[in-house]
Amino acid sequence: MMVTVRISDDALAIACGADDVAKAFEKAGATVERVSSWGMQWLEPLVEISGIGFGPATPGDVQAILDGGADAICIGPIAAHPFIAGQQRLTFARAGKTRPTSLEDYEATGGWKGLNRARELGPEAAVEEVVSSGLRGRGGAGFPTGIKWRTVAGAKADQKYIVCNADEGDSATFADRMVMEGDPYMLIEGMAIAGFAAGATRGYIYCRSEYPHAIAKLEEAIHKSAHIVHPFVLEVREGAGAYVCGEETSLLNSLEGKRGEVRAKPPIPALVGLFGRPTIVNNVLSLAAVPFILAEGAKAYADCGMGRSRGTMPIQLAGNIKHGGLYETAFGITLGALVNDIGGGTATGKPVKGVQVGGPLGAYLHPDQFDIPFDYEAYAAVDALIGHGGITVFDEDADMAGMARFAMEFCAAESCGKCTPCRIGSTRGVELIDRILDRAPRTRDTVEALPQMHNAPKDQRSLDDEIELLEDLCETMKFGSLCALGGFTPYPVMSALKHWPADFGVATAKVPEAAE
Ligand SMILES: Cc1cc2nc3c(=O)[nH]c(=O)nc-3n(C[C@H](O)[C@H](O)[C@H](O)COP(=O)(O)O)c2cc1C
Ligand code: SF4
Repeated sequence: MMVTVRISDDALAIACGADDVAKAFEKAGATVERVSSWGMQWLEPLVEISGIGFGPATPGDVQAILDGGADAICIGPIAAHPFIAGQQRLTFARAGKTRPTSLEDYEATGGWKGLNRARELGPEAAVEEVVSSGLRGRGGAGFPTGIKWRTVAGAKADQKYIVCNADEGDSATFADRMVMEGDPYMLIEGMAIAGFAAGATRGYIYCRSEYPHAIAKLEEAIHKSAHIVHPFVLEVREGAGAYVCGEETSLLNSLEGKRGEVRAKPPIPALVGLFGRPTIVNNVLSLAAVPFILAEGAKAYADCGMGRSRGTMPIQLAGNIKHGGLYETAFGITLGALVNDIGGGTATGKPVKGVQVGGPLGAYLHPDQFDIPFDYEAYAAVDALIGHGGITVFDEDADMAGMARFAMEFCAAESCGKCTPCRIGSTRGVELIDRILDRAPRTRDTVEALPQMHNAPKDQRSLDDEIELLEDLCETMKFGSLCALGGFTPYPVMSALKHWPADFGVATAKVPEAAE
């Protein structure tokens, strides 16, 4: 009997050897179907035969799998695996199940239902459906998506644009990539709905150049679905790798062929965006949530979640974690459940020291904070971010002062240079943390070289003085920066200092309270 074997062609699976495993199955006479990834990264390459999973598989396991003797890597029915069964997959409903660029598979699994319903409802009602769903931007800022759409829909212009932010620069994030590689028509459908709702006939997907598989899949899918989304016309544009080009105004400059420098707001991109025209800029996950919302109704989406965080969040578990991968669930889950119960703790087996949530600008959370629910407001209340939903786990060996230094260094490297607190502050921040870590506070000579410092003490500075200066610098960056790159860099720095002062060589640190 001819066996059909399903193996992911997601970039992570390929990096783990999926292509070699697929070739070995073909050589053994099996039919291989390349599908999207289930998102259980520690099990890739994951092989599926009639719903039963084997992973991580190597070419050497192929014969044993076909002979029914690969018990050691058999995980049983994939859909019943606790990592999958515990999820509420609205956006990733097709993950692991369909061939990414197959129009047939997409249509057979409810594809285009949302676009068709939007066309039946009309533009205004389609916008209101997104407003009622409570969907908030998944790129980081959490701005209500429907309100942004309403602004663009209400603007008068000869041309409007839909821009998909697929720069996905945050550490520990890969959900956008998984959507683009695994379910590209869902993103195209979300953008076509946005275009229809706001009166925009052109769209751009700004994707980082480090995602060649995603770009290839998108281009194929755009070509094959052009007649379905007509008159909406879509193109992919490659970014060149600057983190700040994920910031929406910098991204628009980059799309226009200019330097990726942040624009001052106002005017907001919804009114004066790409080429000066009203533009919806939305993250991949925001747009990818829209087909479900239109197809199943706003209520079906709004019914999940807590408080003002409605719907589901595709959370990305990474770093030093045993079971890394994509976990989509309704808002409200605790960090402890994600890291310990679902993620299985650290990969090294050592105790968790801290967790960074929300990418390089996100705060480090201490295990004492593991009962905080995954919710925009609950995180903001402790000066933390949900961001794009990336979680990086660190074990007890991590040097949190070193991580604080890294945050400043990252900001210095990625700063667009437009405003002083970020451009200069981040470089001074690295120097300051170096002095703290080297236990070499600024000397009298260097203090005198900086007479403009209002609080510069006249004598040799102590370690505590330097810590105070770091806190001061963070306040200045937080409140004085033009965008969130400089404005949020203090979050990882201050949280590291607050929770692990010993790593900085001090007993305690006075960290300013959350700002409103
Ligand atoms: C430094 C910086 C980097 C950012 N990177 C991204 C990114 O990679 N992807 C993204 O969607 N949003 C990113 N954002 C947020 C965007 O500016 C913007 O809020 C988002 O694209 C809006 O879409 P949303 O409302 O759907 O989240 C970044 C913001 C900053 C300040
Ligand atoms: S905070 Fe940094 S990245 Fe943002 S505008 Fe200022 S210099 Fe540019």
